[in-house]
Amino acid sequence: MKIFFLIISYLCGSLPFSFIVPWLKGVDIRKVGSGNVGGTNVLRALGPKYGAICISLDFLKSFVPVFVARMIFGINSWIPYLCLIFAVLGHNYSIFLKFKGGKGVSSTLGGYFALRPLLGIIFLIVWFPVELATKYVSLASLLGMLISAIMGFFIDVKAGITFLILFVFSAYKHRTNIKRLIEGTENKTDFLSLIKK
Ligand code: G3P
Repeated sequence: MKIFFLIISYLCGSLPFSFIVPWLKGVDIRKVGSGNVGGTNVLRALGPKYGAICISLDFLKSFVPVFVARMIFGINSWIPYLCLIFAVLGHNYSIFLKFKGGKGVSSTLGGYFALRPLLGIIFLIVWFPVELATKYVSLASLLGMLISAIMGFFIDVKAGITFLILFVFSAYKHRTNIKRLIEGTENKTDFLSLIKK
């Protein structure tokens, strides 16, 4: 039963919406912009409508299985937290994309709201000002995830450990972004002007 939930969570996370939606529009998202299979890159490539669709679907594909697991096993169980880890692993290493995938930001955000909505709000409170001030989506995402993980330890050790693991996963997937941030060559993405288009 528990293994079944973990497998379903991995398969839900594996659904590569940020690949499928652009592909339906004739775009291979892996070959444009940053090449990342993620909502930010869809926003760059196809504009706000398709960016919002992909970010929402990537959010929901972890939110739904994790929320269902939370309803069944309860917030004090490790199972919903493990389901989230498996859902994000599915997104980052999708079985449908030869174990390639995105950087796990929207799918981690889905997990915050399914398990500890306050951490999701903290993520957004960090993400928006950092993105608007620096135009670095990667920096905003990593800082948001790190601060949410640290705050998680004040709520529940399971939340702290889980979100710290997810931060490490995402930092690994952002390693080329981190290198560019250090070198000062990271791509700038003006979310506000892209959304207004
Ligand atoms: O959501 C991923 C974001 O943090 C960075 O994406 O496309 O700029 O590498 P990208």
